[in-house]
Formats: sequence, C-alpha cells, structure tokens
Amino acid sequence: MLQTKVFITRRLPIELEQLRSLATVEVWPERQPPPHKILLEKVKEIDGLLCLLTDQIDRQLIESGKLKVISQMAVGYDNIDIAAATARQIPVGYTPGVLTDATADFTWALLMAAARRVVEADRFTRAGLWQTWEPDLLLGPNVTGATLGIVGFGRIGQAIARRAKGFEMRILYTSRQRCQPELEQSLGVEFYPLEHLLEESDFVTLHTPSADDTYHLISDRQFELMKQSAILINTARGTIVDPDSLYRALANGKIAGAAVDVTEPEPLPSDSPLLTLDNLIIAPHIGSASRQTRSKMATMAIANLIAGLTGDHLADCVNPEVYNF
Ligand code: DGY
Repeated sequence: MLQTKVFITRRLPIELEQLRSLATVEVWPERQPPPHKILLEKVKEIDGLLCLLTDQIDRQLIESGKLKVISQMAVGYDNIDIAAATARQIPVGYTPGVLTDATADFTWALLMAAARRVVEADRFTRAGLWQTWEPDLLLGPNVTGATLGIVGFGRIGQAIARRAKGFEMRILYTSRQRCQPELEQSLGVEFYPLEHLLEESDFVTLHTPSADDTYHLISDRQFELMKQSAILINTARGTIVDPDSLYRALANGKIAGAAVDVTEPEPLPSDSPLLTLDNLIIAPHIGSASRQTRSKMATMAIANLIAGLTGDHLADCVNPEVYNF
C-alpha cells in the first residue's frame, strides 16, 4: 500500500493507472456527492483531493487536513474557499480551456431550442396535439440577424461570439474589462454597459463567474430593462440570476423565454414554481458534457493532482501565488 493517499469524490470517465502507481486511491462510489461529514473525515488522512463543483471545500475542511493539493474537475471553483487554501499554501487546480467549445455549443443549442420552441414542440407532438400544418403554430423569433448580448467575455463568451457571427447577428458584449480593439474587430462585437446591452438585445447569454459582484446580477430591475420578446440563456452559474425574479419575468411576460443549464439551488426542488413554466427550458448542468470534453477535464484534473503530489507546479492553478511564499 502506497503511503501517499488521495480521495476522488466521484467516478471519473478515465483510467487511473498512472495515479494508482503513485498513490493509494479511493474513489467515492455513489452517484450523490460524499456528505460534508465524510469529506471532513477523509481529509484528515489524505494528501490529495480531486473534487467536483458539487463538493463544498470550505475553510473548516481545508484546515482539518494536511492536503498538498486540491484538484477541481471544472473551470469554475466557487465551491472552494480559495483564500483558505492559499493561506495554507495549498495549490488549487482547475480545468480551463478544454470545455470552452462544448459549453459554447450547448449554449447555442439552448438558444436555438428556446427561440424555436423545440422542447415545447416535442411535448406538443407526444401529447397527440399535432393535427395539421398551421401557419401560426409554435412561432418563435428569428435567430439569424437578431441582436445578441453576451454578459461576461472570457473564453466561453468569445466562443459564443464566433458562433453568433455565423448567424449574422449584431453582437454586444459587456465585461469587467473592455477587450482590445483588434479582438473586438475580429469578432465583430461592440462593448456596451450591462443596462444598455439588456435594453438592446433579443437574446442575452450569461458567461460571468459566480462571485460577490455577480450574485443575482439579473434580478427584477434587469428584467424590466429587457425587451418583452427577449430570451435569456444561462449556462454559467445559477446564482447569477435571482430565481424569484426569473419566475416573475417569465410568468408575467416581462421576457418571452429562457433556457438555463444552471439553477439556484441545484437541482431545483420538485415544488419549484420554475418547473411549471412552458417558456423555460431547464437542463441539469450538462454544458460541458461531451464525451471528449469530460474525458479531457478528468485527464487535466488528474495531471494537476499528480503535479501537486510530486511537488511540481500545477499546469492550471487558481492560486499560483502559493508558489511565491
Ligand atoms: C465548470 O466546469 O465550471 C462547469 O460548470 C461544469 O463543467
């Protein structure tokens, strides 16, 4: 039995031989994440932790163990107390880049599905309601030539812009920092403050990280600014949209529709009023769920874990300042 021990909080879609040659590996076998209580026990005996966005890696947990590395299989890491990890000089790995296209593709799928009412159409057909071709059956707005507002213009926001260009859309974006004029020009995008972007856009798509300043960024006031015909897409984090405001906006026709891959909380409770709305599509956080992408994410997360265990710098590290201590 190898001295070095690691805990992986879910089964991964790749083989783990290389890791097993370096460490004793325990993989949580259940479909549900390990309860926090179990994580607190595990962390006392392990050197490395590979976790997912469903695991709460808080200060108490970080301070209970002697971890050398935390490796998250996701690009987002709002479930991890980074400050607490940094204070203990624990590098935190993540998996940026490899999921950009898969997430942008899925965002586009949701945008198209919401605009052209694909999910409603399927329900309609299966319910035996398709009687004939009708001139006004399940109408939706044009996507080609419409105005798209991208909120958050990192890798995924920019990948969305590239797709939108092919649909001859007018593309507006907002972000903390305006990008270089050359990039704006090559992507064919215009920088707009959030409020103006919301007023102008036919489709609004969210790509900001979850942070204090993006918490409920889209609430009643922002829905008031949007067009009544607008459609909102969220494949970023559920906390960016106030769920009560979203319900009111969709139920009262303040906007025409929405499609979300992320919710607050996740999953939604079975009595959530959002589940009663026909003009809302809800997916179970599968933006990055292409086979190839999930396999690359797992491979990157294992590589970060191994680097942390063997004392190398993590290739993708959220808190590289730990190396300057
Ligand atoms: C992430 O990586 O942060 C996504 O939400 C899941 O792939």
